[in-house]
Amino acid sequence: MWIIQSKYNAPDFYESLEKELDSLISGEPNLIANLANISSWLFHAIPDLNWCGFYLWSTTDNELVLGPFQGLPACIRIKPERGVCGSAYTTGLVQKIDDVNTFPGHIACDSASISELVIPLKKDNHIFGVLDLDSPKQARFSDADKIMLDKIMTNIAEKIF
Ligand code: SME
Repeated sequence: MWIIQSKYNAPDFYESLEKELDSLISGEPNLIANLANISSWLFHAIPDLNWCGFYLWSTTDNELVLGPFQGLPACIRIKPERGVCGSAYTTGLVQKIDDVNTFPGHIACDSASISELVIPLKKDNHIFGVLDLDSPKQARFSDADKIMLDKIMTNIAEKIF
């Protein structure tokens, strides 16, 4: 049984989060199982999210395909040149969007989403997919969220891909 206490405002929140995610995936080689548990953990540990999940790059289809997530059903396929997720995949850079309505080509899966943070998942200079966090609050994600989640997910990607 897992108990997730959101200590989001604690100074050591991200340090604890990384340890918790490490423990969650420890000893488990199955990618889908690990992504499912990570999306659940993040969704419950980070306040004010309405969607949290993964899009994985399909080498056969040359597009991002929906992976494990928490939240409402979402669009299944995203072309690399489309949306915030496609932009993160194509540029290899974290996308922190304060108001998705100002982002050209934003794909609205859930009309509640206002701000968005998308982190490319890299290992050995290869991008395997993205982590997408959506919030109903404008400018929900801080620079600290961006930097720390990027760092954590880079370390996690090294272990799960
Ligand atoms: N808004 C994303 C699409 C994915 S959903 O938000 C779950 C985008 O523009 O890429």
